Amino acid sequence: MKVVDTIPRMSTLVKILKKEGKSIGLVPTMGYLHEGHLSLVRAAKKHVDVVVMSIFVNPIQFGACEDFEKYPRDFKRDEGLATSAGVDIIFAPRAEEMYPEDYATYVNVEGLTETMCGQSRPGHFKGVTTVVAKLFDIVRPDIAYFGQKDAQQAIVIKKMAKDLNMGVEMKMMPIIREPDGLAMSSRNVYLSGPERKDAAALYGSLKKAESLVKSGERDAKKIARAIEESLKKVPTAKIDYISITDTIMLKEVNRIAGETLMALAVFIGKTRLIDNIIVKV
Ligand code: PAJ
Repeated sequence: MKVVDTIPRMSTLVKILKKEGKSIGLVPTMGYLHEGHLSLVRAAKKHVDVVVMSIFVNPIQFGACEDFEKYPRDFKRDEGLATSAGVDIIFAPRAEEMYPEDYATYVNVEGLTETMCGQSRPGHFKGVTTVVAKLFDIVRPDIAYFGQKDAQQAIVIKKMAKDLNMGVEMKMMPIIREPDGLAMSSRNVYLSGPERKDAAALYGSLKKAESLVKSGERDAKKIARAIEESLKKVPTAKIDYISITDTIMLKEVNRIAGETLMALAVFIGKTRLIDNIIVKV
């Protein structure tokens, strides 16, 4: 396993790999790895010759009052986990190299980024699409892997890649969960003991919504209300949003039809958690 920490070195390596005819898979991350990240690596191993994982806590996707400074970081631990999952190259550039002082170019996907997490975190997706566009340019992957955990992010990036003819195949992989259903997240370390127990309510409420759909309910408002009722039973939970949308343009739907995303963001104490389920009817 190689660790590459500058853009020119990564570009040189990519040129060599391309010349050798190797296919490249990219797993973009912000580190503090868990099984969710590693599941993306395992998927990539099945499809490509070389798996590149980027580890970069991207400053421009954090709001001014968000957790950029305290975002958990442990490069040594990440290196060990990445190696054992089969990562071939870790790309970990410095923020000063990614965004020098005269940096001026941003990528913005309109229409899909103003709602849901985009409403609560203005500018967040612009930061995400910009860094992912840069990573695609540097690493030139054939396939890029994202988790359904951040479904809006994966859908926005897919749209960017299509609209800008990036020629990168996008794969959205299933959510990896703790035994009680909580979606794995680097931010789960922020939860206190009692909050950690309450956090299972996110998935619990989504499972209830899913069973309503399975039993024939198609009214999106009724399903959203059921999710809300379920979350209201948890004293530490404060709902940020509950959204029921299509999975291409993220438009709110009135009725469940075809593939539908049921997504939510909830504060448990001070920690904002997200989760979702995609139903197909
Ligand atoms: P990060 O939160 O580190 O997540 C990296 C990738 O792992 C994302 O595609 C995310 O959806 C996926 N992931 C996280 N938890 C998961 C889980 N429990 N199950 C499955 N996949 C999971 O998302 C980011 O970083 C950044 O925004 C990034 C795309 C790297 C741009 O900076």
